Amino acid sequence: MKFFATQQFTRTAIVLHWLLAVLLVGQFAFGWLLDAIPRNTPARGWWINQHKSIGLVIGLLIVLRIFWRLRHAPPPALPMPAWQRRAASASHLAMYACMVLMPLSGYLASNFSKHGIKLFNTVRLAPWGSDDKLVYAVLNQTHKVTAVLLAVLIGVHLLAVAKHVLVDRDRLLARMWRGAGAGG
Ligand code: HEM
Ligand code: HEM
Repeated sequence: MKFFATQQFTRTAIVLHWLLAVLLVGQFAFGWLLDAIPRNTPARGWWINQHKSIGLVIGLLIVLRIFWRLRHAPPPALPMPAWQRRAASASHLAMYACMVLMPLSGYLASNFSKHGIKLFNTVRLAPWGSDDKLVYAVLNQTHKVTAVLLAVLIGVHLLAVAKHVLVDRDRLLARMWRGAGAGG
């Protein structure tokens, strides 16, 4: 089935949505698996630096996505009750906020620890903050709580998409699937 370009997200928005979906799920798994590596071992340092480096790359992609979104309006909402439209907007906004907070809290926390960041275990970015246990703990806790919040929001997002596909049987998923000449 073909849709008019104005009923689709732009091709760039679609590519960034799916690329980030895959990368974020992988980065969640990575983060939670870090718990399995004993603390104060060289192996943990190596893996943490990989997590930090990939997280920063994901952060840049998130900035690009938000930048793109602000310049390219999404297609008009599909017919649905007003409360569902409001819930969708609110949850999308909350996901964007969490997507910013995840890499930001990780980056800031790393700068209040003497370890700093070693980009892909090659280039060392010396921390610009002091080695402050309390500031680190607050930012690290923000990182952990935001991860849970974002995971819950993604769960709700998936349930909402499933409802559109299985119950409403509308073309919501197709709007985020192919560029169909959407331009850009
Ligand atoms: C890490 C996982 C994901 C995140 C963070 C995420 C985030 C988002 C956000 C923020 C939007 C709003 C786009 C905008 O209006 O700017 C969106 C839209 C959408 N997402 Fe996801 N998403 C994820 C995974 C998925 C998956 C797995 C599916 C499909 C099963 C999906 C299907 C959709 C669809 C269909 C839309 C468009 C809704 C519409 O037409 O208004 N998403 N997603
Ligand atoms: C961009 C997306 C990111 C996601 C989705 C993500 C996700 C996670 C998750 C799920 C954990 C495990 C939390 C827990 O044990 O409860 C974690 C831990 C961690 N993350 Fe990230 N992260 C991201 C980016 C970053 C960045 C950019 C940095 C630093 C530059 C970073 C630094 C860390 C550190 C140091 C830990 C270990 C914390 C500890 O065990 O005390 N993360 N991350």
